[in-house]
Amino acid sequence: MATLAPSIIASDFGHLADQADAALQAGADWLHLDVMDGHFVPNLTIGPGVVAALRPVAEAHQAPLDVHLMVERPERFLEAFAEAGADVLTVHAEATSHLHRALQQIHALGCRAGVAINPATPLTQIEPVLTMVDLVLVMSVNPGFSGQSYIGTTTDKIRQTRRRLNALGVTTLLEVDGGVKPHNALEIVQAGADVLVAGSAIFGGDIASNVEQFRQSLMLAA
Ligand code: DX5
Ligand code: ZN
Repeated sequence: MATLAPSIIASDFGHLADQADAALQAGADWLHLDVMDGHFVPNLTIGPGVVAALRPVAEAHQAPLDVHLMVERPERFLEAFAEAGADVLTVHAEATSHLHRALQQIHALGCRAGVAINPATPLTQIEPVLTMVDLVLVMSVNPGFSGQSYIGTTTDKIRQTRRRLNALGVTTLLEVDGGVKPHNALEIVQAGADVLVAGSAIFGGDIASNVEQFRQSLMLAA
């Protein structure tokens, strides 16, 4: 069964811990925390303090904190997010001149390392690090905002990534983020995704019923 990672960017920040708890209580698996710096993407969100604040909620459900750094030169912040309690730290291939070293740093800090690629970035750009990362994040929107529509051409990129990871014989997780809804979740999983990030489809309206809708839509993939 696919892993469901609600993205708190779409939650009510005035009740962040309660909303995160509700999503995990309803059966979601991870918490996806979108960190944005206003440079790499045209939006600002949260820092290490919020990761630390959500740690107890995640621990209560044994849910990993999946931190997605949409940040220029992310190597500057890896230690702070690791100390705050991140379990997975994902950096964008487009955001650092030293991707391999940043991924080594993440492992040295004891976290799982993820690499993310934007819609216009080809899979070949991260080929040299595919055997060292624990997760590949294929963006299905241009990052910065929740509530955008899934970019349809991403499905082929997911298939291509799945084929490459299988050919390499690695257990690297394939995560998809952006515009993921119950109506396209099965297609995305059947293309090869392991982890689905969903923001507005989870936190818009009744959280428990939204999580249930994802579970129902993925029944066929089980
Ligand atoms: C990048 C963010 C969003 C968010 C998902 O913009 O990473 O993709 O997690 O938001 P939805 O599911 O509403 O597109
Ligand atoms: Zn994200």
